[in-house]
Amino acid sequence: REIFLKDYKMPDYLFDTVDLRFDLGEDKTIVSSKIAVLSRVEGAPCPLVLHGSDLKLLSIKVDGKELKKEDFHLDHRHLTLPSPPASAFILEIVTEIYPQKNTSLEGLFKSSGNFCTQCEAEGFRKITFYQDRPDVMARYTCRIVADKTLYPVLLSNGNLLEQGDLEGDKHYALWEDPFKKPSYLFALVAGQLESRDDKFITCSGREVQLRIWTPSEDVPKTAHAMYSLKAAMKWDEDVFGLEYDLELFNIVAVPDFNMGAMENKSLNIFNSKLVLASPETATDGDYAAILGVIGHEYFHNWTGNRVTCRDWFQLSLKEGLTVFRDQEFSSDMGSRTVKRIADVSRLRNYQFPQDAGPMAHPVRPHSYIKMDNFYTVTVYEKGAEVVRMYKTLLGSSGFRKGMDLYFKRHDGQAVTCEDFFAAMCDANDADLSSFLFWYSQAGTPQVRVTSSYDPDARMYSLKFNQEVPPTPDQPVKEPMFIPIALGLLDSNGKDMPLTCVYHDGVQQTISSNDQPVCKTILHVKKKEEEFVFANIPERPIPSLLRDYSAPIRLDSDLTDSDLFFLLAHDSDEFNRWEAGQVLARKLMLSLVADFQQNKSLSLNPKFVEGIRSILCNTSLDKEFIAKAITLPGEGEIMDMMTVADPDAVHAVRVFIKKQIALNLKEDLLATVINNRSSETYVFDHHNMARRALKNTSLAYLASLDDPELTDLVLHEYKSATNLTDQFAALAAIAQNAGQVRDGVLSDFYTKWQHDFLVVNKWFALQAMSDIPGNVTNVQKLLSHPAFDLRNPNKVYSLIGGFCGSPVNFHAKDGSGYKFLGELVLQLDKINPQVASRMVSAFSRWRRYDEHRQALAKAQLEMIISANGLSDNVYEIASKSLAA
Ligand code: ARG
Ligand code: ZN
Repeated sequence: REIFLKDYKMPDYLFDTVDLRFDLGEDKTIVSSKIAVLSRVEGAPCPLVLHGSDLKLLSIKVDGKELKKEDFHLDHRHLTLPSPPASAFILEIVTEIYPQKNTSLEGLFKSSGNFCTQCEAEGFRKITFYQDRPDVMARYTCRIVADKTLYPVLLSNGNLLEQGDLEGDKHYALWEDPFKKPSYLFALVAGQLESRDDKFITCSGREVQLRIWTPSEDVPKTAHAMYSLKAAMKWDEDVFGLEYDLELFNIVAVPDFNMGAMENKSLNIFNSKLVLASPETATDGDYAAILGVIGHEYFHNWTGNRVTCRDWFQLSLKEGLTVFRDQEFSSDMGSRTVKRIADVSRLRNYQFPQDAGPMAHPVRPHSYIKMDNFYTVTVYEKGAEVVRMYKTLLGSSGFRKGMDLYFKRHDGQAVTCEDFFAAMCDANDADLSSFLFWYSQAGTPQVRVTSSYDPDARMYSLKFNQEVPPTPDQPVKEPMFIPIALGLLDSNGKDMPLTCVYHDGVQQTISSNDQPVCKTILHVKKKEEEFVFANIPERPIPSLLRDYSAPIRLDSDLTDSDLFFLLAHDSDEFNRWEAGQVLARKLMLSLVADFQQNKSLSLNPKFVEGIRSILCNTSLDKEFIAKAITLPGEGEIMDMMTVADPDAVHAVRVFIKKQIALNLKEDLLATVINNRSSETYVFDHHNMARRALKNTSLAYLASLDDPELTDLVLHEYKSATNLTDQFAALAAIAQNAGQVRDGVLSDFYTKWQHDFLVVNKWFALQAMSDIPGNVTNVQKLLSHPAFDLRNPNKVYSLIGGFCGSPVNFHAKDGSGYKFLGELVLQLDKINPQVASRMVSAFSRWRRYDEHRQALAKAQLEMIISANGLSDNVYEIASKSLAA
């Protein structure tokens, strides 16, 4: 049941137009499709194979003639016409489906009484029989017929052609999408919804109607989403010259949704949590996520919809590129450095572990069992890093030229990652040949740098050595093309002018005398490579991999004092943060070793002083400070150990946090007090930065569990006028078990029980808690009246949240594993996509000690032997066991 990239074949039949009709009903929905089919190849007709799953076939006609049982073949997953007409023909199919019973939230389903669809990747086959693959692109119309009272709003892709009343209290709407599209971009929504309406005038002066649809009570919470949409439309025009192409753009928010959002042509469907926001019910983090995802889905209109993927292996063609675009958008709307830090942290905390585990796969996977399992941090986030490297190598204007050529060549087509690569190279006359390994080789490259300085020759040498670790099915790798952005700092902390560099015996000029250049990009392409800089007056301190110019692990011979120096002086802000992180990682690892040898722990005062000087540096951006004083996550440290030890890492991280809080108590207190504000909530960088710094400081103080400080935190909780501050105070208090914690948690629930998005945060906060034995608490919450296994957001909050606490999920008694194992099986019966996301928490079981390994393995074996297991869970569980 595994599908391989190398087996790709073009479709034998093309679909020109598709006319759909939906008769939406309470106990069944009838879907009628009329497809104009063309055969792509001349000669003897080959069979036409249509995908279909969970469908009841009512009738099938070819050119108006009903087919008899013997004229077609029907199995579990396909409808086959063995010998269709040799020339163009009309295929008409009627099926019956049951959206109200569809808990997989894939295909057509109901969410809070409304009908809605999710077709990517292969959900359209749950609606009707079709060639459900992205290289079959057709023009669609969609007629929706439904009860007028229950479903007053009827939406689909494109333009509304007609609407009107029908007998029996019904009404209809007829939609037409003028753009060809693959089936995964089809969408339908029907229900009781109201909209916030606005307009956008495009750069060429066309007026676009913008509508964001929600249940009526939530319309006030869509202001930020609308602001984000308009900002995204403007940004795409300004930065990429890309204009919206229809007169209408709809967004619908639904509470039950497997992922974040979906870019269906002109009818984006969103998980409510990525649309609805008000200062009282959403945090700064939520506001930022909404901005990013509204942008992301909008940007797909060009990168994904106008130019789509030939097959699902190419997913990163649209996702990597669109994530890169949304990252750039958010950077331009806020702080570039802080956004970069957040994105790199995400890559390190989630993608690096994936790339080092049994589910490691290249940005373009070679095979899959269930495509839904490949909507991963590798395809998305590492894919975005790959796109970013083109920009680093070609420069902003070169990158833009490449994008322009890509659209010029491929508008209206379904293409591959090589097509994107070719557009980038051709537009710039560049030879980036070995760059393509980024698409085909999994694993995070490990790069070692060693430096030496020759004062007499005034030469400074950097030697690079790269290693791409083995991954499942890829034991040996080719060297990768790695762009290393760098600068060299002099003893005053200033960037030295770079004049020329020797590489492979060739001298390259970087700058002539009149225009000093202080930053360059080295192209590291071989396993071992040396670059020698000339005219270097003193031993420099290198600032390597500036702005994180490649998704690698970098290991250098910088000393602690070099790192402190970079932390204080680097002109590249990202690398200032990075220097602090490298120091913190080293420190944490050495304390972990002490802890494991039962030595008493003590914290290097130089480190505390480093943190103090950042905290008190008024010239730095406050959000940058907040990031720079935050320790690397426990996962990141465990990732660097031969055998991951969650207890030791947790103990060490808590120890350092408390030591910092103790030593910097006065500074932290002052920071909290100086960064309060009584003004009304504004979502802008200045205020977000202020809140981030205040709340990070508050969390440090609360870790001391000192009654006086607890009072302070309680005061922050009570006086908060927005959720960012209130929730931060709640989280700070919740670090310490006891009555205060219990009281505040129940107060918060009472206050917010009517708002399910806030309640989800309340679930997540408790689930993620590192309090010993938290599994019992989480067990209890499963039967809380507000919990529901059928709602993905609730599952991600409570069960996903629990797996995010290494000490509790990996508890030595196996209680965390047992909890998850049982839930995965329950969830799999309801929603395989959600179950398979949850089972992924087991995938790195081999990283732990033998005792834990045995416990986790037993759960995986239990899961795999269950009857009726979905392909989704099977793929993750079996690959986890095999590796
Ligand atoms: N294309 C959507 C996005 O904007 C995500 C679709 C995810 N589909 C899935 N089966 N997981 O990223
Ligand atoms: Zn996307």
